[in-house]
Amino acid sequence: MKPAPLLEVRDLRVSYPTPRGLVRAVEEVSFQVYPGEAVGLVGESGSGKTTVLRALLGLIQPPGRVSSTLLRFKEQDLRELSEEEWRAVRGGQISMIFQDPVNAFNPALTIGHQLRRVLKLHRPAPPPDGYDAEILRMLRRVGIDAQGKLESYPFNFSQGQLQRIMIAAACLGGQPALLLADEPTTSLDVTIEAQVLQLLRDLRRELGLALILVTHNLALVAELCDRVLVMYAGRLVEEAGLYDLFERPSHPYTAQLLRAIPRFPAHGDRLYTLPGNVPDLAAAPRGCPFAPRCERVVGPVCQEQLPRFLPSGREQYALCHWYDEAVVGQAVAAANRHRAGPIGASA
Ligand SMILES: Nc1ncnc2c1ncn2[C@@H]1O[C@H](COP(=O)(O)OP(=O)(O)OP(=O)(O)O)[C@@H](O)[C@H]1O
Ligand SMILES: [Mg+2]
Repeated sequence: MKPAPLLEVRDLRVSYPTPRGLVRAVEEVSFQVYPGEAVGLVGESGSGKTTVLRALLGLIQPPGRVSSTLLRFKEQDLRELSEEEWRAVRGGQISMIFQDPVNAFNPALTIGHQLRRVLKLHRPAPPPDGYDAEILRMLRRVGIDAQGKLESYPFNFSQGQLQRIMIAAACLGGQPALLLADEPTTSLDVTIEAQVLQLLRDLRRELGLALILVTHNLALVAELCDRVLVMYAGRLVEEAGLYDLFERPSHPYTAQLLRAIPRFPAHGDRLYTLPGNVPDLAAAPRGCPFAPRCERVVGPVCQEQLPRFLPSGREQYALCHWYDEAVVGQAVAAANRHRAGPIGASA
């Protein structure tokens, strides 16, 4: 039997009023994360991945609007937290690491100063051997010997080191149960990327961390994740276990994303790119948001009606009419009628 979810999100929506109209950045997103699990959140640029993470940490600023029917972390209803309670959760039980390690630090303050501030926020009473000893321990854990270097500035460290320091900072606030990582290796070169990946794996094992990994790099997902959520135009379009996602993607968008992964194309092969563009989120289309780019349109229903999120395999779901028996049945009947022509036409 599955344990109780660590995080439960139901019907999350985030919108931003803009001069062009209301941008629906996240629409009807529901999912769970179980303790210790690594979940990948993938999708093209602008699909709403970062917005989901920010909403989970209560970081959507007005005029942005957030709503959900459930947002529960452990036993806490995150929707009811005061700003002070949020500060304890953020960086304490739920931590976030960002894409760009350089901009995550204040260039004018020493690393020691910045890490001490994080630690003091969550641990008002110093550890028995002092704050610095705890910081050095955490830095060693991420592979950085900072003895005598705490008074150095961010520019004294390489990008890869700063990314490790950011991960250390994310774990300093105590024992985070959930780490949110937004494109944590995009700005790093491949060798450093491999080291950071290994570090995330080790931390998961040692601290029992659950992870939500946001990326548009499916190779990274394959390396690290157990389960995958695919977003398109603010909506969740597929949820699948890692193996199923790669072996039998159920949403046409996922299938097209997988085809777009470069795999040393043979001589003469063209790299597949997804046709078309992501829709304008301020002009919510009727029907399925992916219909204009879809290779598996069931019928006019795809342009007219939003699909439901339906089972498409074992513990696999897709936002697609293809999995709605009633819709497919009607489409087949309509196609047959069309083929037979009007009744009596052949007489
Ligand atoms: N403060 C804001 N005001 C208006 N629109 C916003 C705001 N923040 C995000 N958006 C819009 O919300 C949508 C989702 O953005 P988001 O940054 O979550 O996408 P993403 O999937 O993280 O993309 P990327 O892969 O490029 O990081 C985009 O259309 C973006 O323009
Ligand atoms: Mg983003």
